[in-house]
Amino acid sequence: MRVLLLLVFLVFCLVPALSYRDTNWNKLNRAGRRENLEFRVALNQRNLDVLESTLLDVSNPASSNYGKHWTSEQVADLVAPEPWVSKKVVNYLKKNGCHNVENHGDFIKASGPVSAVEKIFSVEMYNYKHNIKTEQSIIRSSETYQVPFEISQYVHIVSGVSELPHLNNGPKSKTLKPNPKDFEATPAPSGPADPGMVVPQTIQQLYGIPSDYVNNANTSLCLAEFAADRSYQPKDLKTFAAKTGTPLINVVKNIGPFEPTQPDLESTLDVQYGGVIAGKDALITFFTVNGWMYEFSSDLAATYPAPYVVSMSWGWPEPLQCQQGIGNCTNGESSQDYVNRVNIEFQKIGLRGITLLASSGDQGAPGDGNPSCNSRDQPISTIFPGASPWVTSVGATMLAAPSANEPNPIDTSDAPVCGIHKCATSTQEVTCSTPSALITTGGGFSNYSPQPAWQADAVNAYLSSGVTLPNKKFFNASNRGFPDVSGLGHNYYIVAADQMNIVDGTSCSSPVFGGIVALLNSYRLDNNKSTLGFINPLLYAAYASNPEIYNDITVGNNYCTESCCATTGFLATKGWDAVTGLGTPNFKELLAYVQSLN
Ligand SMILES: *[C@@H]1O[C@H](CO)[C@@H](O)[C@H](O)[C@H]1NC(C)=O
Ligand SMILES: *[C@@H]1O[C@H](CO)[C@@H](O)[C@H](O)[C@H]1NC(C)=O
Ligand SMILES: *[C@@H]1O[C@H](CO)[C@@H](O)[C@H](O)[C@H]1NC(C)=O
Ligand SMILES: *[C@@H]1O[C@H](CO)[C@@H](O)[C@H](O)[C@H]1NC(C)=O
Repeated sequence: MRVLLLLVFLVFCLVPALSYRDTNWNKLNRAGRRENLEFRVALNQRNLDVLESTLLDVSNPASSNYGKHWTSEQVADLVAPEPWVSKKVVNYLKKNGCHNVENHGDFIKASGPVSAVEKIFSVEMYNYKHNIKTEQSIIRSSETYQVPFEISQYVHIVSGVSELPHLNNGPKSKTLKPNPKDFEATPAPSGPADPGMVVPQTIQQLYGIPSDYVNNANTSLCLAEFAADRSYQPKDLKTFAAKTGTPLINVVKNIGPFEPTQPDLESTLDVQYGGVIAGKDALITFFTVNGWMYEFSSDLAATYPAPYVVSMSWGWPEPLQCQQGIGNCTNGESSQDYVNRVNIEFQKIGLRGITLLASSGDQGAPGDGNPSCNSRDQPISTIFPGASPWVTSVGATMLAAPSANEPNPIDTSDAPVCGIHKCATSTQEVTCSTPSALITTGGGFSNYSPQPAWQADAVNAYLSSGVTLPNKKFFNASNRGFPDVSGLGHNYYIVAADQMNIVDGTSCSSPVFGGIVALLNSYRLDNNKSTLGFINPLLYAAYASNPEIYNDITVGNNYCTESCCATTGFLATKGWDAVTGLGTPNFKELLAYVQSLN
């Protein structure tokens, strides 16, 4: 008899990805002088005002330039410093003992022996070993790097020399035993959830997503992973296809370090649900990154051909980005500098016609900045990249308990696993939150980025709707509101290391929405139209033209985290809200809108 283990895991989608000085790293001996180290020097850029205005123009459905994306060379020529600047930095690095010096225009990627790196950046390099992930070791400096005088006026940041990455400790199973007192202050509870599992058919039927579309040969989706999460198992994709009765997911490329032997739940979830929603034969890329958002975005800039859509189920509070891998953050630079630099890289990616999506977080309004819900001074935190205006921020919903006479219950009879285990039937969506779910969807307002014009009407309507809002001193109401949209984020069936797992998270909804964008791109490519690229202006323009394009989620709030509840946060209500954004997609209506554009 086969024994299926039913494990409920919390997906640690929002992992503290890289902390500036993760205390779990033990400093050992000096690194060998001849050991090799790879690092990046990000140069100061030009024409950033033109970059932003051009991107907004080609992404505005009402513009005659809609969809006129640029090539990566054109983008690089616009923002890179004059060629003599990067040459000067390249020559400096070569002259001082570095090799494999790659000139990418606005950044230099180089390697060098420890002896050279120590001399250039005035540091001493050491071996570090991780306490928990004992197989992990790394070479880093014992103090912050200094940029040499000869090139300092051209250099923005250096990565790969001083920061010690935070490693994910892996998913943990979790039994929620909520203390009823924790929930006293929470208004409008979402009520019990549908206890059944979500399989691909649940999502496809709920949102009207076709499962049989013959994709354009070029439609693509990339799942980006960070820290030590770098492995799904190809064998699990076969089992997933068989158990759910869906086509085998077509992973065409693994970029970056890939360790197929020990699959992690994050990568497995992303590939299985992004891949299955993008549909048959969509080109799936699995992209692992040594580093954080700067390394990711600069690597993507140097990837050709690049995938058209990228989903990142990762994030960490905006003001804590200094922990994320920018060498000098604690001295000369700030988290805001880091966020600003990465936002520029995101704009460059958008101008090439690539869509970026990110999870809005699993810790509700308190966020990872306040995971124990107990700070009176600053009960609400933010997330990056999930609060960046340049990504599509995706929140999570869950299915409410099915009503006694559901008119059109979800039919999952095509999925063999639903013949053995209970699958969801309800079609009513509410905010994904504890205690029904293992997570509470993140949402709120950025600390750094002002409100973009494309969301002003929707967000201002929320702010002036009369809905209960947190005290104004706890959030920047005039800044970018997030998330933009949502999707189911509770009780997903996945197969990892041959075992069935049920997972929750905005880690579920971001790849699903990414799959939807990949599918929409497919229809456009078939009609010789551009990809959707930076899609946020379109998502809000679509809402203004026809609110029915989204299922409005009006029940629930994000006062809680994964384990506790704060006394403040945001409430879901009619129209856009800082809990579920515009809502979840009605694929057919969204497609009709997308097809009406040039
Ligand atoms: C796919 O992209 C390549 C390269 O841009 C192009 O030559 C080819 O015609 C495209 N195929 C389809 C089916 O659109
Ligand atoms: C790094 O910090 C030091 C000390 O505050 C400062 O002198 C230096 O200019 C900073 N470097 C950069 C690249 O900002
Ligand atoms: C508002 O944003 C500023 C930075 O732009 C930040 O310093 C401040 O803490 C934010 N306020 C709140 C309440 O988060
Ligand atoms: C798209 O372009 C190709 C090649 O130029 C052409 O064969 C095809 O008919 C076009 N399709 C549409 C829908 O315009």
